[in-house]
Amino acid sequence: MTRIAIGSGMMRGNDSRRDSPNDLWTPGAVTMPPEKNHQESLEEARSLLAGSAGTVSFSGAGLSAESGIATFRDAQTGLWARFDPMTLASAEGFARDPGLVTEWYRDRRRAIARAAPNPAHRALAAREEIEHITQNIDDLLLRAGADPARIVSLHGTMTRDRCHRHCGYEEEVDMRDPPGVRPCPQCGEELRPSVVWFGEMLPAEAWEKADWLCRSCEVLLVIGTSAVVYPAAALISVAHDAGAKIIVVNTQSSDASALADVEIIGRAGEIVPKLLQSPPGRGRA
Ligand code: APR
Repeated sequence: MTRIAIGSGMMRGNDSRRDSPNDLWTPGAVTMPPEKNHQESLEEARSLLAGSAGTVSFSGAGLSAESGIATFRDAQTGLWARFDPMTLASAEGFARDPGLVTEWYRDRRRAIARAAPNPAHRALAAREEIEHITQNIDDLLLRAGADPARIVSLHGTMTRDRCHRHCGYEEEVDMRDPPGVRPCPQCGEELRPSVVWFGEMLPAEAWEKADWLCRSCEVLLVIGTSAVVYPAAALISVAHDAGAKIIVVNTQSSDASALADVEIIGRAGEIVPKLLQSPPGRGRA
């Protein structure tokens, strides 16, 4: 398994949008395709989901955007448009200045604690048979009521701290009043958020389950991810190559677009409920 990194782009070759702070897309603005195509895509996606015996969701920061959690690569509002990822989300950055990194995560933790799940989280959670793979480190899917046993958190979670040396110590943190820098009570190394930083390995168990889910699902519902961070983004190809239908929901085209059987351009909070909720008097979508 490879370490977490920005990918070389699995599909769109020379994509000038990738990580570009000059991205012309304005957050919140959605370029809507012609109404008929949009409606047809929705119907097609609903029909794929209705016929699927095994649906897996694969989400990124766009899933939580309407809950007020900043994405990473959206122009202006994206975290990596304003902050340096290698300073704030790498072991090297933490070694240089643990106080700075911890303070930054304290702010993000408070923001997550203030946020509430949006209609997309709730629609996903309400479909108990769906398995979820998420790159998100917030707990909004869980707070929406999804079964923890059905959530694979590929990039870890903000709700826990762990020993930076990996001695095995972990503890839950109070997201409303997050702790500052402090030593691991077991080995004395510093504690840090239990998340995967650039250059670090994904948790083996999470990766193996995600890989297996993608190899065995019938439909992969890809929501709100730029699909440029590996190895997570490779899971879309894994599902595609194993014969799954790929549905992509995003406010703009992304590196997942080329693998999509159906792509729906729109906000997750609006589109996902339409895909997953049954119309009155009918069976499940
Ligand atoms: N609905 C649907 N999609 C949205 C919405 C929305 N309301 N708002 C934004 N998006 C889309 C954007 O168009 C973009 O393609 O969500 C995507 C977010 O992409 P990124 O910011 O790159 O987030 P993500 O794909 O989750 O990043 C992957 O990068 O730095 C790391 O570890 C971090 O897990 C993260 C990883």
